[in-house]
Amino acid sequence: MNKEALTKLMQPKSIAVVGASAQPGKIGYTVIENLLKGGYKGKIYPINPTATTILNLPVYPSVNDVHESIDLAVVTVPVQFVTQVAEECGKKGIQALSVITSGFSEVGRRDLEDELLAITRRYGMCVLGPNIVGTLSNSDELNASFAPFLPFVGKATLITQSGALLIAMDAITYTRKVGFDKMISIGNMADVDFADLITWLDTDENTSCICLYIEGLKDGRKFIEACRKTQKPIIALKAGVSEHGAAAAASHTGSLAGAVKVYGAAFQQAGVVQASDLNNLFDRTLALSLQPPLRGEKLLVITNGGGVGVLATDSAERFGIPMHFAPEDVQVELKKHMPAYGSAKNPVDLTGMAGNDWYYESVKFAYAHPWTDGLVVLYCETAISNPLEIAQAVKKAIDETHIKNRPVVVSMVGGTRCDQAMQWLVENGIPAYGPPDQAMNAMAALREYNNIRNILSQPSTTCDPEGTKIAREVIARVRADGRIAMTEIEAKQIFTAYGLPVAPTNLATTEDKAVELAKVVGFPVVMKVVSPDIIHKSDAGGVKINIKSDAAVREAYQTILVNCKKYKADANIHGVAVQEMAPWGTEVIVGSVNDPTFGPTVMFGLGGIFVEVLKDVTFRVAPVNLKQVEKMLTEIRSAPILGGVRGELPRDRAALAELICRYASMVYDLSDEIAETDANPVLVYEEGKGLKVVDARIILKRK
Ligand code: COA
Repeated sequence: MNKEALTKLMQPKSIAVVGASAQPGKIGYTVIENLLKGGYKGKIYPINPTATTILNLPVYPSVNDVHESIDLAVVTVPVQFVTQVAEECGKKGIQALSVITSGFSEVGRRDLEDELLAITRRYGMCVLGPNIVGTLSNSDELNASFAPFLPFVGKATLITQSGALLIAMDAITYTRKVGFDKMISIGNMADVDFADLITWLDTDENTSCICLYIEGLKDGRKFIEACRKTQKPIIALKAGVSEHGAAAAASHTGSLAGAVKVYGAAFQQAGVVQASDLNNLFDRTLALSLQPPLRGEKLLVITNGGGVGVLATDSAERFGIPMHFAPEDVQVELKKHMPAYGSAKNPVDLTGMAGNDWYYESVKFAYAHPWTDGLVVLYCETAISNPLEIAQAVKKAIDETHIKNRPVVVSMVGGTRCDQAMQWLVENGIPAYGPPDQAMNAMAALREYNNIRNILSQPSTTCDPEGTKIAREVIARVRADGRIAMTEIEAKQIFTAYGLPVAPTNLATTEDKAVELAKVVGFPVVMKVVSPDIIHKSDAGGVKINIKSDAAVREAYQTILVNCKKYKADANIHGVAVQEMAPWGTEVIVGSVNDPTFGPTVMFGLGGIFVEVLKDVTFRVAPVNLKQVEKMLTEIRSAPILGGVRGELPRDRAALAELICRYASMVYDLSDEIAETDANPVLVYEEGKGLKVVDARIILKRK
């Protein structure tokens, strides 16, 4: 995306409003009115074929009648005129279009959107929208939208796919006192998308945090790349929780890959903090826009009320923030600023007797102490203290330490005096909230931001070229056979090529061969049908386990063939596979799908009922790094089972993490060919004893 064009879109020095109207109530009137009300200092050119003045501004019949250059055209003409207007703007040399008009792909008219794009590409223009509210910027005194006013002043920038939500959030910024510099309605994203704007905002000195409302991305990988490169915190609220593609999936993994889970994984890999709802988005944005990340684990809580201290501690646990007792020297010093019955542990309870001085002294000492990584200050309104003065004492104490890289958040529980004090704090750069759990949630966001950025720093596992070569030969053979479903034996050849430890499986096409193979493998053995037409082998009666003798091998061979012919009379049966009966281990599933937004994506979960019933699985967009995979292993609800329960030894998590890394590099490497895969089950043994992929499935893309 052309940066110069984007700058003209975001910080235009002159604006034409094409479709400006003299009629109050029309969007073309409101945009002109908003530009004037917002205090825009650049030139405004209303364009209308018949009007002479609009809000005292001279009107031009077309952009060609304007003799000066124009940076941005805001388009408010009906949909049928938009392409003609775009052509005129292109000829005039306008580099940026902001198309407010609706009636494009959102109502099934992608053709109109494509036509618009073809014109703007020809002239090298960038297009925001169509189907948008427009753009707002406090620092540029720019309200090029039909939202009624500029947002409450601050350092966050919102990019939203919902225009209506922009207008609603704009109003909420005043009631919540969460400050924004810019608000951008992105609409149908025909051209300018989230990634383009995120990259541009990274160098915008008035934006300290990027806040996203996302319904769906078009190019997931471009989004991840742009977010990763950004130096500023990004927070996203993802709307739309429908499961997509699940019904048609042929693999286990395919049926479990809901859009929400994959987006959640992608956000983590992009270094994007998530918000759970609108309130949460505001709470977290406030903290991320005003404070540095929480870089360590030592959080100190100072309060004047035991109750709110306990509530904050409960919230900390809920958000996974460990609470530690303050070290001895901190406790000794803090004891000087509280009555004998106070507590200097953590939370530090100054008691209800606390006034400005105690808050000032204890905050100043604790915040500056090297033990402290972050500070949460709680205050309950009391008759002997003034909330605003407490807020000012806290701010003074923080400022006097001259420390800039430790976060502080405040919670003030009380009435309107507390509201005023909190507003004062926010205006002075300290995020302040009512309930203590909101403050702790804000601190959790600062911690999450730090942790996900750390995980990103490690490079992803890559694959070796020899493995790729072998895998592609196997794929070519399957394609030559006119198939997309691989047999277990073929899938295992690919797994082996990428260094995944599989239970060796060999094909028998006669009973005698099956007996011979069983003897080589050693009893007991497992026998399974090999047929590209039978994906779910057990359902077809195509699997026999724990076979202990020659006679049993012969019997199993015949039974499997009979069962499978009954299950699917026209199935092409290659024969019966004979493999070792792998010793018992904890069953896990590793798999992959080709997500429509993010491409190859790996899944991990515990096997059996955990995956069947509880859908206790987690995803990452491939490829992955070891730190991301280690996090995956802790993310599922049944994770403690891998740690060893009921006297069992812990499972070999290191081997499992390595397997998932290799698996992800395999599906990423072969993403032009592979649609879905499963390694299910994988048996994981005790620490140091590795694991084994018992069954394998690969479905190729249709070509
Ligand atoms: N050049 C300049 N002006 C033109 C023009 C052209 N080629 N063609 C028409 N106009 C003028 C019209 O004459 C009119 O001005 P007037 O009031 O002086 O007659 C003005 O453009 C607007 O046209 P009009 O036909 O009155 O349309 P409208 O104002 O009722 O609606 C839109 C126009 C763009 C607002 C409407 O089509 C639309 O898309 N609305 C939805 C917008 C939206 O909600 N977006 C955000 C979604 S989140």
